[in-house]
Amino acid sequence: MTVQEVEAFCQETLAALRAVSSREQLEQFRLTYMVQKGRIRQMFDRLRQVPKEEKPLVGRLLNDLRRTVEEEFAALQQRFEQRTEKPAIDPTLPGRPLPRGSLHPVLQTLDRMIDIFTRMGFTVAQGPEVEDDYHNFEALNFPPDHPARDMQDTFFLRLTDSSGKPLLLRTHTSPVQIRLMEAMSPPIRAIMPGRVYRNEAISARSLAEFHQLEGLCIDEHTSFADLKATMITFARQMYGSAIRYRFRPSYFPFTEPSAEMDIECFLCGGKGCRVCKYSGWLEIVGCGMVHPNVLRACNLDPERWQGYAFGFGIERVTMLLTGIDDIRLLYENDIRVLSQF
Ligand code: PHE
Repeated sequence: MTVQEVEAFCQETLAALRAVSSREQLEQFRLTYMVQKGRIRQMFDRLRQVPKEEKPLVGRLLNDLRRTVEEEFAALQQRFEQRTEKPAIDPTLPGRPLPRGSLHPVLQTLDRMIDIFTRMGFTVAQGPEVEDDYHNFEALNFPPDHPARDMQDTFFLRLTDSSGKPLLLRTHTSPVQIRLMEAMSPPIRAIMPGRVYRNEAISARSLAEFHQLEGLCIDEHTSFADLKATMITFARQMYGSAIRYRFRPSYFPFTEPSAEMDIECFLCGGKGCRVCKYSGWLEIVGCGMVHPNVLRACNLDPERWQGYAFGFGIERVTMLLTGIDDIRLLYENDIRVLSQF
């Protein structure tokens, strides 16, 4: 083995190492040159064949080569390792769940009520929250000094209508009945959900701002039996066919006869408790046959047209559905309450 051969081998080896451009090529280089029986080792083994006087030079060349190869190999190894190091994030980890929002329980109730009534053939209508005296009271058969106006705890506005009477925040959704009968001719079968306002002391049972769902059906042969059947069908669909209910006579200026429907108290199962005021029953809807004076105010002939109307408190229906026994819980926006629905 000549010095030239050794020098050529050194050059070739370094050229091969410096041509390496991947982890795989580097490993291939190691297996060819650097292992026990690799090409560098083989050159050392052939030192024996080298003439005595050339041995120190060849020995030094090979030792230098081995050191350079080891250094450059280590540097390359590091470089490739860095490049394939694990990414800072682990894309295989499952994501952290984000809290999801949901519809407010009152809105969920409203959606279910709309669903039940639309399947019974009712359409959905809306009216303004700022009303005039005529639609909120007068056309609904509340004459100016009628004591029933006191039942309503009205919020009046500084604004007035064209006749100089103060406008008001509607105290019920019944004025939408009037607006519907003014706008269209019967037969009418509609529900009218919306927000209403009353100047009431805030308590577990009442807020100054709440929601009602009004219903109106006007046709030529509508009877109290239709009203009862509609209310019973609703209660069974909302609360299950086993729900117990009862009708009580009541009074509203705009219906005659008038009734209220109670369903069995959800908390005590009818035994009597704080929520039902120890009666075992909870009122969910006021209803009755539309008063002839109301029909006349809307230019409908009571001899030809009759109908029924009803008004639910949507919060009350929600409380019965969810078991929430304080109406204020619905509007405190406490996530611990809302996230349960
Ligand atoms: N408007 C009545 C109330 O707010 C409810 C009602 C509506 C009663 C329709 C009868 C008919 O109490």
